[in-house]
Amino acid sequence: EDEAFLAAFKARIDAEEKIEPNDPMPEGYRRTLVRQIGQHAHSEIVGMLPEGNWITRAPSLRRKAALLAKVQDEGGHGLYLYSAAETLGVSREQMTEELLAGKAKYSSIFNYPTLTWADIGAIGWLVDGAAIMNQIPLCRCSYGPYARAMIRVCKEESFHQRQGYEIMMTLAKGTPEQKEMAQDALNRWWWPSLMMFGPHDTESQHGDQSMKWKIKRFTNDELRQKFVDATVPQGEYLGLTFPDPELKWNEERGSYDFGAIDWDEFWRVVKGGGPMNRERLEARRKAWDDGAWVREAALAHAEKRKARKEA
Ligand code: ACO
Repeated sequence: EDEAFLAAFKARIDAEEKIEPNDPMPEGYRRTLVRQIGQHAHSEIVGMLPEGNWITRAPSLRRKAALLAKVQDEGGHGLYLYSAAETLGVSREQMTEELLAGKAKYSSIFNYPTLTWADIGAIGWLVDGAAIMNQIPLCRCSYGPYARAMIRVCKEESFHQRQGYEIMMTLAKGTPEQKEMAQDALNRWWWPSLMMFGPHDTESQHGDQSMKWKIKRFTNDELRQKFVDATVPQGEYLGLTFPDPELKWNEERGSYDFGAIDWDEFWRVVKGGGPMNRERLEARRKAWDDGAWVREAALAHAEKRKARKEA
């Protein structure tokens, strides 16, 4: 990759041009996107599991219909994202094999268990809320297929966040036991939600380069702060408290100060040692194995059709 090529590429990025699949691009740019979009796709697919756990136990038909729709949306997001990554020259099979071998990452958040119905509320409110904060700027990502996929994804995420917050509202305004459940879910999901944004900027390996390439538009810490600032008033409106004694409005900064994140826990979960990592990968492996006959049948059908066309 000579300097003239890199300079021309940088000029396109600086001019806010979208980079499309067949355009020349630096190898590092392609690799970063494959990594991030692949991880993002896996997160959507693995993310179906914690909530799928409650579909059969949703407290009413209406709640069940909304939860089913949301989990299906996540399956759809995973598919758009695998397709976006495929435009960069990797196959979905390759990405799936890396996930199942424990080599590809997916979001740390999906390695925590969903213990009560209130967790479905907390996930919609906090986890999908954090996802939107991170994904709205990705609609302006320099890589065209990823940016375009994010537009619909964000619209659907916004519905997911609303359904979660509405569950929290119902519980928080319900019986003392219901309010207690909502509080317990907030206590358990708050810190892992802050971890979703990734390590501090000073520790973020890819952050600077991804900002220069306009893959990322805000840093990890910037997005985490925006999320805290947007979410704390929502929690106060519910009459719930955040499990952080250091959380406090900072008049000077016009932002909330908050306590230190437990980075040991974060890295333990990212590296496979979270409470549900094993179960999540086992469930994905089982789904892949159980679906083998469908892939084989589809391939056989495609080959027959091709042979018939050629004959
Ligand atoms: N969980 C697991 N791994 C993480 C997390 C997390 N919450 N945050 C960061 N990491 C990993 C990175 O993937 C990277 O690992 P790698 O080098 O093996 O790929 C490493 O930690 C260092 O982090 P960064 O250098 O800061 O990585 P990056 O610049 O990619 O920023 C971020 C991380 C913010 C998650 C970015 O990749 C991103 O915006 N991804 C798209 C959004 C996404 O994946 N969302 C998934 C959850 S939301 C949902 O699915 C509902």
